This record gives sequence, C-alpha cells and structure tokens, in this order.
Amino acid sequence: MPVITLLSPKGGVGKTTTALLLATELAAQDAKVILVDADPNFPLSKWAALKGKPDNIEVVEEIDEETIIDTITEARRRAKFVIVDLEGRASGRVTNALLVSNLALIPMQGSALDSNEAARAFKNVKQVSKHRDKPLKFAAVLAKTQASERLWPRDLKQIIAGLQEAGIPVISTALADRGAFRALFSFGGTLATLKATDVGSLATARANAAAFTVDVLTLLNEKAPA
Ligand SMILES: Nc1ncnc2c1ncn2[C@@H]1O[C@H](COP(=O)(O)OP(=O)(O)OP(=O)(O)O)[C@@H](O)[C@H]1O
Ligand SMILES: [Mg+2]
Repeated sequence: MPVITLLSPKGGVGKTTTALLLATELAAQDAKVILVDADPNFPLSKWAALKGKPDNIEVVEEIDEETIIDTITEARRRAKFVIVDLEGRASGRVTNALLVSNLALIPMQGSALDSNEAARAFKNVKQVSKHRDKPLKFAAVLAKTQASERLWPRDLKQIIAGLQEAGIPVISTALADRGAFRALFSFGGTLATLKATDVGSLATARANAAAFTVDVLTLLNEKAPA
C-alpha cells in the first residue's frame, strides 16, 4: 500500500501539518492509515494523545535509522496508506524512508530561501531514486499560502514557474495558512470534529484539505479509498 513521505531540510515548512491533514482525510474515507512519526519531538504522537483520534489512524514512533525500513514495510502490510513525517534535516533516516516510499512530498513557502532549501530535498530524492528499482514520485506542496491565489506575491509565482521549468511537479491545491490546521494540534481530532466555536472558517479548511488529498491520490494513481 502506498507510502507517502514528507520531507524538507528546512524546519517549520508544514511537513507534520500536511502529514496529519492527509492522514485524517484518508481515514475519513474509511481507510486504515498508519502515521510513522520519525521526528524525535514526536509531534504526531502528541496529537494522538489528545482526544478525538479516529480509530483507523495508528501512530508509530520510529527514529532509528536502521529500523525505519522495517517499520515502514511492516506498516504497509497493515494499512491502506502509510504516511511518514520526517524531522527537518537530512539524515540516514530520510534516505532510508525514501528507499521504501511511493511518493515524496516537499512542503515549501514562497521565498527564494525556502525554494533553495527545497531544492536540496529534491536533490536528495533524485539521488535515492537512482538506487531504486522504480523511480520515486515526488512533488512540491505549497503550504501556508494566502488562501486567495490573487493575493499570492510575485516571488511565489516565480518560484512555481521555476519548479515547473525544472520538471518538478507542484500539487495544484495549495494548503493555505489556516487556523483550523493549526488548531488540530491544540484540540486533537480531525477537521470534522473541530467545532466552529473553537476555530473559524472550518468549511473552507475542510474543502481545502479534501481537494489537496484528491490531488495527492491522483498523483499516486490511487482512487479515493471509499
Ligand atoms: N497550512 C497551514 N496553516 C496554518 N498553519 C500551518 C500550516 N502548516 C503549518 N502550519 C504551522 O506552522 C508551524 C510549522 O508547521 P509544521 O510543524 O507542520 O512544520 P514542519 O515542517 O513539520 O516543522 P519541523 O521541521 O519542525 O518538523 C506550526 O506552528 C504549524 O501549526
Ligand atoms: Mg514536523
């Protein structure tokens, strides 16, 4: 079953948030999802310890570079989707996770500095890809953007054009900067269980996460699980 890995050497770009949004969206479609929390701060385990984790999401902690391949391989036997969240720096753990992944997603924001860091991640992905039987699929994820594309700064548009020129696919639905996405880590649960009294613009946040998940499934050539 597909393994989706979130990576980027830059910290705070949205890897963990994107991993959780994907996991909760896929789980809402009745798929069993295993989140491999490969960040020594264990942000996903902390989320799982809050109230509201769906029963069909399991979080597995794995920070050992030598055992991460076994952990992912074992997880894919038990789940419809495996999502791996890596910490923000290059390591043997990243390389090994990529060896057994089906899709690498690299979240980024819209500055040139950011895209330089993302370029390092793409280099990493391409290097690992050479050592696999099948090339590794990969894509950039625009995260924490302005919700309205009309308001995107010109440098972000320039970066997107640069990625496309370099043959790097960009997931067409950006994950906007939304309080509801942040709130998942305070309140626990999913976008479906958050309450309008706790956080605003829930409907648009839900629509955003759902559209993003459809794009990821399309890239994987997977039909929606339901
Ligand atoms: N789409 C988003 N909308 C709103 N806030 C977001 C979004 N994505 C990330 N954030 C916020 O940005 C911060 C960093 O996000 P996150 O922890 O997901 O990044 P990361 O790449 O996993 O970081 P690290 O490198 O530390 O693991 C967090 O406070 C998170 O709540
Ligand atoms: Mg993280």
